[in-house]
Amino acid sequence: MYRTNTCGELRLSDCGREVTLAGWVQRVRKMGGMTFMDLRDRYGITQIVFNNEHDAALNDASNHLGREFVVQVVGVVAERSSKNDHIATGDIEIIAHKLRVLNTSEVPPFTIEDDTDGGDDLRMRYRYLDLRRAAVRRNLELRHRMTMEVRRYLDSKGFLEIETPMLVGSTPEGARDFVVPSRMNPGQFYALPQSPQTLKQLLMVSGMDRYFQIVKCFRDEDLRADRQPEFTQIDCEMSFVEQEDVISLFEGMAKHLFKELRGVEMTEPFQRMTWADAMKYYGSDKPDLRFGMRFVELMDVLKGYGFSVFDNAAYIGGICAKGAATYTRKQLDALTDYVKRSQIGAKGMVYARVEADGNVKSSVDKFYTQDVLQQLRAAMEAEPGDLILILSGDDVMRTRKQLCELRLEMGRQLGLRDKNKFACLWVVDFPMFEWSDEEQRLMAMHHPFTHPKDEDIPMLDTDPAAVRADAYDMVVNGVEVGGGSIRIHDSALQAKMFEILGFTPEKAQEQFGFLMNAFKYGAPPHGGLAYGLDRWVSLFAGLDSIRDCIAFPKNNSGRDVMLDAPAALDQKQLDELYLIVDDKAIESKKQ
Ligand code: AMO
Repeated sequence: MYRTNTCGELRLSDCGREVTLAGWVQRVRKMGGMTFMDLRDRYGITQIVFNNEHDAALNDASNHLGREFVVQVVGVVAERSSKNDHIATGDIEIIAHKLRVLNTSEVPPFTIEDDTDGGDDLRMRYRYLDLRRAAVRRNLELRHRMTMEVRRYLDSKGFLEIETPMLVGSTPEGARDFVVPSRMNPGQFYALPQSPQTLKQLLMVSGMDRYFQIVKCFRDEDLRADRQPEFTQIDCEMSFVEQEDVISLFEGMAKHLFKELRGVEMTEPFQRMTWADAMKYYGSDKPDLRFGMRFVELMDVLKGYGFSVFDNAAYIGGICAKGAATYTRKQLDALTDYVKRSQIGAKGMVYARVEADGNVKSSVDKFYTQDVLQQLRAAMEAEPGDLILILSGDDVMRTRKQLCELRLEMGRQLGLRDKNKFACLWVVDFPMFEWSDEEQRLMAMHHPFTHPKDEDIPMLDTDPAAVRADAYDMVVNGVEVGGGSIRIHDSALQAKMFEILGFTPEKAQEQFGFLMNAFKYGAPPHGGLAYGLDRWVSLFAGLDSIRDCIAFPKNNSGRDVMLDAPAALDQKQLDELYLIVDDKAIESKKQ
């Protein structure tokens, strides 16, 4: 038997027992005639003591231990004289009388401790060592518990877990596809699914009624902290449901997860906000509602006083930062620099402080009388000690997005984005379409299978841009953790949707014929949602990036630096697949 116990298990009540432990050597230190070793496994760390004076062979063996050696120790559990409150086994130690080295290790490239000295790249290159660290391991444990709870909850609600294929056809809507050449079908390609959207709809046509899948999805898009090229969805679909049914079932699931995994009991219904309000008041379709600072439109208040920046603006909006009037000139200059930085790109920022006596002092005092500034104060509902920050611009949406960034930054600076606080929100009534400058046409905001709101269907012919959808996103702390919709189940309406999206009937048939044909055979009304598993785990673990809850993630350039993927193929493989790599084009792209 390799071990009787794990390294996280033994307590004072075990004192006097002979035990066998196996694990990795975290640290060895010598003190007087004794050697102390921290032995680690998945479950924790236990201190091992070698009392070297009594046993020359043991003495010798313990002197030759290196970091990350794999060892087996036999000894007796004893109470520690100096206890360690930081670890669960801190009250005991093992007085060892046998030591067996099961495997040696080279010196690891970074220390395998919570505060490692390894940089990002190094840790990713040796991810199997990084995963030995408790901090990363805990995230994977949480991820496991979450998938278990998801399965438990959905099973209790009658959902069937059904797998759908990973090799599917390419669909042009949404992000770019990752494609896979087919050797048996020369010149033809599979695509990896961006989501099992159409397949789960087909399962509804099959009468499966309630489907779910914890499933890998693949999207070739630019990466960010909350985006990976392959990620995992908790993908669900239900038949005979309306928006309210889907929202209520998945709000129930979110509450179940909060309770079981974070010990947070949420009794109130989650907030709801229309997409239009989210954009108007927060400049984002995923507002962080852990704090206020709602936008106030100030066109009526500040236009027409000779300040040309505002007079020429299509939008002027402000936020009120409570108690921030103490911001120094230097801090305000830094904020101004922040809004001017390229990704926000605002031209400048105006500020106004409400002083203790109620007077307002602004950075544009020469254009505005105290009277007007008091109107500003009233509009912003600002009190003495508050700071008003104002942005303006000639593009309403863009300026709102800039103000959104400023609001989030102020929230961060004022400590209002507490990771242990959770603000859950459903954003509803999304527009059906959005205009794409790049494509010069309307695109589906969610996807082309989303059902328009019944009352808006007549506008599909007259004003499609104004049509709203039965689509909903769940947002927690400013992160989109899930999204879904009621689907179209009528092949004529689906065909119309493709027409508005600029597909010819032939193209629509070629790409989505399988779905439209299926709809001719008794498709039930249906709808669903997909949660982003990686994002939920990150949220619960308080992570800044979803990478930290993925065992083997990709870096920001989409590379797996450990596997060194992607990589070029052998000529033989290319030949088998009838592929020719255009080296010239690659070279010119690099330049
Ligand atoms: P959507 O595209 O909104 O919807 O995706 C659902 C959820 O998946 C997560 N997500 C991601 N997580 C990590 N990295 C990514 N690159 C990434 N992209 C998306 C988000 C998002 O809310 N088929 C529809 C769902 C439906 O309508 O049922 C879909 O895929 O948390």
